[in-house]
Amino acid sequence: MQRLRTVDEMRAAVQMLRGQPAAQGNGKMHGARSIGLVPTMGALHEGHLELVRAAKDRCDAVVVSIFVNPTQFGPHEDLDQYPRREEADCKLLEAEGVDAVFLPLVEEMYPAGATTAVDPGPMGERLDGHSRPGHFKGVLTVVTKLFHIVDPDVAFFGQKDAAQVAMLQRMVRDLHFRTELEVCPIVREKDGLAMSSRNSYLLPDEREEALVLNKALRIIRSRFQDGERSAERLIAAGLFVMAYEPSVRVEYLKVVNPRTLEDVREVEGAALVAVAARVGGTRLIDNVLLEEAFISEARVARA
Ligand code: PAJ
Repeated sequence: MQRLRTVDEMRAAVQMLRGQPAAQGNGKMHGARSIGLVPTMGALHEGHLELVRAAKDRCDAVVVSIFVNPTQFGPHEDLDQYPRREEADCKLLEAEGVDAVFLPLVEEMYPAGATTAVDPGPMGERLDGHSRPGHFKGVLTVVTKLFHIVDPDVAFFGQKDAAQVAMLQRMVRDLHFRTELEVCPIVREKDGLAMSSRNSYLLPDEREEALVLNKALRIIRSRFQDGERSAERLIAAGLFVMAYEPSVRVEYLKVVNPRTLEDVREVEGAALVAVAARVGGTRLIDNVLLEEAFISEARVARA
């Protein structure tokens, strides 16, 4: 597995990977090999590795980027504390059969004096964008840079960051990127906590309290399955559960349109329920998609 640190090295590596003949009869692509990209900030866990496996399944060569992107952190956020574990991460990626890892320095990704950025528009202020001003501008800007450097055929993102996914899908469409996005399901710990690099900040008591995010989402989903469609009442049911852990401070619990992230009053078709909360000093997010098809399947299963 190659480790690349500069834009030029990464571009040359992609050219090599694309040009190598595809293994005979692998059923994937003929001619140029397809490239899959998995962008990450490192401190890798099973959630990231599932993206890598999806990329391995679909593409001939897989590139993973590890870059703690300063422009998506606010001034009082955890940029300095964010876990950095290059050796352990590379070992995990090597074991998954990743072809190349891109590990640029900040100066490489942001040339001195760089001021150009990608503006997410009004969507950038919804959900996490409300409490983290500028966050999604930083995300769209760094993903644009990565897409230009690696030029992947497919890029893999997790549903864990549902607002990020909605904005990236919008960006790819609005700005005519050729890269296709594949969204992978949320990977959870056995007890339901969504995996996150930030879970390592949680003290033992906080780790227990953090389960309330997923509990609230599960209650909301079960109310939805029982026929509740009012966003206000679904949110009230979730907040009632969250109140059992008064030390967990809810930042938002919202029912929104999954594509535009605008609040909905009544769930029609599909809706995204997204929650963000602070557990001690750690900010956690989680979400669930409510879909009509999902409930009819559940009803059939029960019948
Ligand atoms: P990071 O938080 O490292 O996440 C990298 C990718 O892994 C994202 O697409 C995220 O949604 C996915 N992921 C994280 N936890 C997951 C889980 N429990 N289940 C499924 N997928 C999960 O998201 C970022 O980095 C950055 O914003 C980035 C896109 C790299 C831009 O800097």
